[in-house]
Amino acid sequence: MLPTSIHRRTYIIVSIVVSIPLILWAFVNANRTYTLLQYAVKQELITAATTLEQRIPASYEQLLKSDDMLYSPSEEKRKALNRHLQPIVDEVAKNYPSFGLGYYSPELNIVALAPFNSEILGAKAHRLSLKIYETKKMDIAYLDSGVTRDEQPLMAVNYPLYYGGQLIGHVWANYKMDDLNRQYYFLILKYLGLIFLLWICVLLIIHWAFGRMEKALHELADQVKNGSYNPNKLVEFPQLIPVLNTILNLYKDKEKAMEEIAKLDRLNLVSQMAAGVAHEVRNPLTVIKGFLQYFQKKELTTTTQDQYRLILEELARVEGIISDFLSLAKSKVTQQKLCNLNHLLEGIYPLLSAQALKQGIELKFQLDSRIPNCLINDKEIIQLVLNLSRNAIEAMSKRGILTIQTQLNGMEIILLISDTGCGIPQEILKDIFNPFYTTKDNGTGLGLAICASIVNRHNGTITAQSIENEGTTFRVAIPV
Ligand SMILES: Nc1ncnc2c1ncn2[C@@H]1O[C@H](COP(=O)(O)OP(=O)(O)OP(=O)(O)O)[C@@H](O)[C@H]1O
Ligand SMILES: [Mg+2]
Repeated sequence: MLPTSIHRRTYIIVSIVVSIPLILWAFVNANRTYTLLQYAVKQELITAATTLEQRIPASYEQLLKSDDMLYSPSEEKRKALNRHLQPIVDEVAKNYPSFGLGYYSPELNIVALAPFNSEILGAKAHRLSLKIYETKKMDIAYLDSGVTRDEQPLMAVNYPLYYGGQLIGHVWANYKMDDLNRQYYFLILKYLGLIFLLWICVLLIIHWAFGRMEKALHELADQVKNGSYNPNKLVEFPQLIPVLNTILNLYKDKEKAMEEIAKLDRLNLVSQMAAGVAHEVRNPLTVIKGFLQYFQKKELTTTTQDQYRLILEELARVEGIISDFLSLAKSKVTQQKLCNLNHLLEGIYPLLSAQALKQGIELKFQLDSRIPNCLINDKEIIQLVLNLSRNAIEAMSKRGILTIQTQLNGMEIILLISDTGCGIPQEILKDIFNPFYTTKDNGTGLGLAICASIVNRHNGTITAQSIENEGTTFRVAIPV
C-alpha cells in the first residue's frame, strides 16, 4: 500500500542517522579507552621498574665481590650476578605476568630477565635503550616492531640503577603493544556488535510501525471503496480526514449525478414514447368518441345510456393519461411569462378548497407577501400544485390538514405543500419521482414525474421529506 520507495528511503535515512553517529561514538570511545589503558600500562611499567630498582640489595660490584668473581671473565661474572638477581626478577614478574622485566649492566649486558631466556642472557640492549646512559634519567619509549628482538612493538620503561651516586646499570620493564591493540580491536568489535543490534532493533520498530500504518491504510482504503469510513478509526492519520471527506462527498455527488442522469434518460425515453402514443392513439380515439356520442344520442333506454356514459368516462380517462404523457414529453421552456406565484395560488384556491372539503380536509394558505413576480409557465405551475395537492389529499383520511406555503429565500421562491397523511416510507422516497412508480391501485405513477419535469424546465429543485404516519412535505425551489 505504501510505496516501497518510502520504506527504502526511511530505512536508509534512519540507518544513516542511527549508525554513523554511533560508529563515530564507538571509535572515539574506543580510542579514549585505549589511551587510558596505555596510561595505566605506562604507570604499571614504572611501578614494576621501580620495584626492581628498590629490590637490588647492593651494587653489581658488591654482589660480584660477595661471590668472589670480581676478576673472573665476563661470562662467569654474569652468571654470578644472575644468581643474585634472577630470583628477584622472577618474584617481581609474578605480579606482572604480561610484562618483560630485567637488570642490565653496561659491561655485562643483560644479567637477569623475565620471562627467563638463556639465549638472551648476555645480549646487548638496543641502542635506543642505551640512551639512558646519556640522559641518566628514566626513559619511556615506544619501540616499533623493526627494532625489537621478537619483532613485536613494545612500550618500554628503562629506569636508572644508581648506587652510591654512581650509575651502575638499568632495570627495564616492557609490554607488548600487540596485547593492548588486541584489547582495542576487541573493544571496537564489541561496540560495533552493540551498534548492529541497536540498528536491527530500530529497523524492526520501523518495520512494525509501517506494518501498522499499512494495515490502517488498507482498512481505510476498503472503507472508502465501500463508500463509507469511520473517522474515529483514523486517529493515526487525522490529516487525512478532511481529504477523505472531500473525496467521499465528491463520490456521493457523482453517484447522485449519475442517478439524475439515469432518471433524465428514463424521462427522455418516456417522452419519446408519449409523443408516439399521443400521435397514434389520439386520432382513432377521437373517431371512437365521436361515434359513441352519436350512438348515445340515438339510444333511448336508460341502461344503455348509462353504459355509453361509462364508456365515455373511461375514454376521458384514457385521454387524460395521454395528456399526462404529452406534458412529460415537453423538454423545452415554453411560454414563460412574468407571474406572481401567490396570485396563481389564490386563483386556484376555490378549486382546491372544494376538493379538500369533499374529503373533509382543512386547507391552509400561508403566503409570503414578499414573493416577487418571476418568469414562469403559469399552466405548468398550476398543474404542479394540483398534482402535489391531489397526492396530499389522497394520502390523508378525514380531518387532515393540507398546508400550502410560499417563502422567499434569497434569490429563490419556495413552495411548500404539506399534509398530515400516511407519509412515505424512507426506502421508497428515492423512487417516487420515477415515471410509473405508484403504490396506488388506480394510479399511473406519472403525477410526480410530471412535477419533476415541470420544475426541471424552471431550473428549480423538488424534494420530499416525510415521516411515516405523520405527514409529508414537498419543497419546490424556483430561482427568481
Ligand atoms: N403526499 C403524499 N403522501 C404519501 N405518499 C405520497 C404522496 N405523494 C406521493 N406519494 C407516493 O408517491 C407515489 C407516486 O406518486 P405519483 O403522484 O407520481 O403517482 P400516483 O399518485 O401513484 O399516481 P397518479 O398521480 O398518476 O394518480 C404515490 O403512489 C405514493 O405512494
Ligand atoms: Mg399522484
